[in-house]
Amino acid sequence: MQGDKMFKSFRERRVDRATRLKYQETFLSKEDFVFPLFIVSGRRRKESIQSMKNIYRMSVDLAIEEVESLKEKGLKSILIFGVPDKKGVELAYDDEGIVQNAVREIKSAVKDITVITDVCLCSYNPTGHCHVGDNDKTCEILAKVALSHARAGADIVAPSDMMDGRVYYIRKLLDENGFSTPILSYAAKFASNLYGPFREAADSTPAYGDRKSYQMNYANSFEALEEIEEDIKEGALMVMIKPAMSYLDVIHKAKEKFKVPLYAYNVSGEYAMVNYLIDSGLAKEDLIYEILICIKRAGADKIVSYFTPYILEKIDEYQSI
Ligand code: PBG
Ligand code: ZN
Repeated sequence: MQGDKMFKSFRERRVDRATRLKYQETFLSKEDFVFPLFIVSGRRRKESIQSMKNIYRMSVDLAIEEVESLKEKGLKSILIFGVPDKKGVELAYDDEGIVQNAVREIKSAVKDITVITDVCLCSYNPTGHCHVGDNDKTCEILAKVALSHARAGADIVAPSDMMDGRVYYIRKLLDENGFSTPILSYAAKFASNLYGPFREAADSTPAYGDRKSYQMNYANSFEALEEIEEDIKEGALMVMIKPAMSYLDVIHKAKEKFKVPLYAYNVSGEYAMVNYLIDSGLAKEDLIYEILICIKRAGADKIVSYFTPYILEKIDEYQSI
């Protein structure tokens, strides 16, 4: 529509829904999503989490039902967090622990689902911290945790603790025991204020202080690249950036520099904020699609999100006429 006009028309790309879709650069696909699950002991147990609408702590039998039904809608991967009944770091690497039993049960009940396990100590540690004081001692324990998850049949282990060298320790112990289980490292995990609802869900609020001495300073992006580079060197095959929404520049920089699968974690506080706007009538539900597609546009290959059930349900509606 240039004709005699002295300027280009962008608005003609936006005239109607069909045209907008024709010009759309980024699309979400069902394969992009990883759904986090909080697993508790027992059977038929389902507890709501006050700060996270539609998210529950569930016993594994109910989790399996949920995963089965999401799988019909296109779910490909889950990320498992164990929420133990009592505290004790050694419970994190118990072969009969919550995560280990859950992985075994899910893997045998559900076909073709990628099971990723979160490897950390905070939900098990009486202090609520991701470490036991000493960095290297913590890495040794984390490696045992990862090994027990691998033994249970985890497809991918994902350390989220932010200790130095943990990927090295984990890779080494897995190799020594004959496990080629890939490591997805939460390489650039920032000391964010957006983890509050998760800590309610996972009962992992630090009893004292904060996590700023191990999680990254949120003012840094070049350091995030160093963290990622180091984790890849230590043996991570995939890396994660967390949180996502306020860290799109980090996602973008990482995508330009590294050719490994890049995950972004759309965290609990982001989930709560978005729901707050929608539930109070200040934003349309379309906001969910917006934030997820922006995370992908920035460069994420995979998105860990509590909105996974919603988006699996709605994706076709958003992306077709
Ligand atoms: C810690 C861990 C955190 C999350 C997952 N594992 C953050 C933290 O408590 O510091 C946050 C996930 C979310 O907010 O959704 N190992
Ligand atoms: Zn932790």
